[in-house]
Amino acid sequence: MKAIQAVRGVRDILPAETPTWQAMEAGARKVFELYGYREIRLPLFERTELFARGIGETTDIVEKEMYTFVDHSGESLSLRPEATASLVRAYVEHRLHAHPKPVRLYTIGPMFRYERPQAGRYRQFHQINVEALGTATPTFDAEIVQMLMAFFAELKLGERVKLHINSIGDATCRPAFRAWLRAYLKENLTRLCEECRARVERNPLRVLDCKKPECQPVIEQAPSILDHLCPPCHEHFDRVCHYLNLFKVQYIVTPRLVRGLDYYVRTTFEAVTGELGAQNAVAGGGRYDGLVELLGGPADPGIGFAIGMERVALLLKGEQTSTFAFVFLIPLGEPALERCAELAKDLRAVGVAAELTHAPRKLRAELDLANQLRVPYVLILGDDELAREEATLRDMTTGDQRAIPLAGVVTEIRGLQGQQT
Ligand code: HAM
Repeated sequence: MKAIQAVRGVRDILPAETPTWQAMEAGARKVFELYGYREIRLPLFERTELFARGIGETTDIVEKEMYTFVDHSGESLSLRPEATASLVRAYVEHRLHAHPKPVRLYTIGPMFRYERPQAGRYRQFHQINVEALGTATPTFDAEIVQMLMAFFAELKLGERVKLHINSIGDATCRPAFRAWLRAYLKENLTRLCEECRARVERNPLRVLDCKKPECQPVIEQAPSILDHLCPPCHEHFDRVCHYLNLFKVQYIVTPRLVRGLDYYVRTTFEAVTGELGAQNAVAGGGRYDGLVELLGGPADPGIGFAIGMERVALLLKGEQTSTFAFVFLIPLGEPALERCAELAKDLRAVGVAAELTHAPRKLRAELDLANQLRVPYVLILGDDELAREEATLRDMTTGDQRAIPLAGVVTEIRGLQGQQT
């Protein structure tokens, strides 16, 4: 029979990689909970209109990238392409806004976008998503950005990730800037790539984000949004920068940093690495005052970010080692197997990871296997030893062996584990 393969752009996370993923998740939980964030778990699909309204009808995500289907009752549903819209939906639906603000939440899980797969870009990918709702103060923007960088520091990636930050203004100043930018882009239409030409009318800010070489000269000469912020947006951005300085967070002000989702206002930011080629953003986020209201809730402001786990995993590649068993039990014969099976169960009951050979081969072959598994200790039990109520304990690092009484095996090995931790 022909083997069936996974869908294009969708990958398995194999056992060799899971320690990295577990380290990312543990790092996120540790850091975010220190800042008062609590976990929320959200559904993987929603009504299509939630994303259309929340992310924006004219964004690439909604126009081209959603996995949308009609279910048996005729309703249009979509796999979530991101988590912010879903989280805000839950915030409104469950009246989380009645809780003390800011309401600080995080969620970890898969997202789905029909993009062209390449290294670091997949159709099913995972995000660690963080959102804070109910505060508009710029000092909070700085704190959440600092927390993102604390996450990278926790994973020892602080040096390999750079923070870019910008303000894209608000409903007061952005429309004028957009009109200005559109006029400039129209003058330079012939120097833009085909995709950007189509964007000029509908979403001119997105042109600033284009990576195509032909567009770069036009983008470099384009007006900067930072020169067109209204006074309150300007002051907000200054305060964010002031607090980032206070927190000693290094950042690069990047006026071309506009993001691919329509809900952003004022602060936007991205964490970028130089090590992953075109897919260099390992996290992105910003402020989205107005989204809660747009999704039927109160006028609560919000800010958040999402970390792309596949991309962080690529940076961490090979840096985490799997944890294997602490002791490997090798019974030589049936009566010894019985005794070892019991011992393995007793060891696990006291928290020692024990692996038992159920169908032992020659001792040499079993020791080789223990070596491959990188187990620090091996317990060997043969018929003669069983008769003496003893077992042989071998230290796999030094090769030293000694006899220990069977009755004392659990205490002895547990003690050795205690010395190592
Ligand atoms: P985003 O920039 O679309 O923002 O995605 C955030 C991160 O997810 C990206 O920086 C990247 O690391 C990762 N990512 C995005 N698409 C892919 C893909 N196809 N394959 C692999 N990784 C990918 C958002 O999703 C916003 N909801 C973030 C946010 C939260 N803003 C406010 N709160």
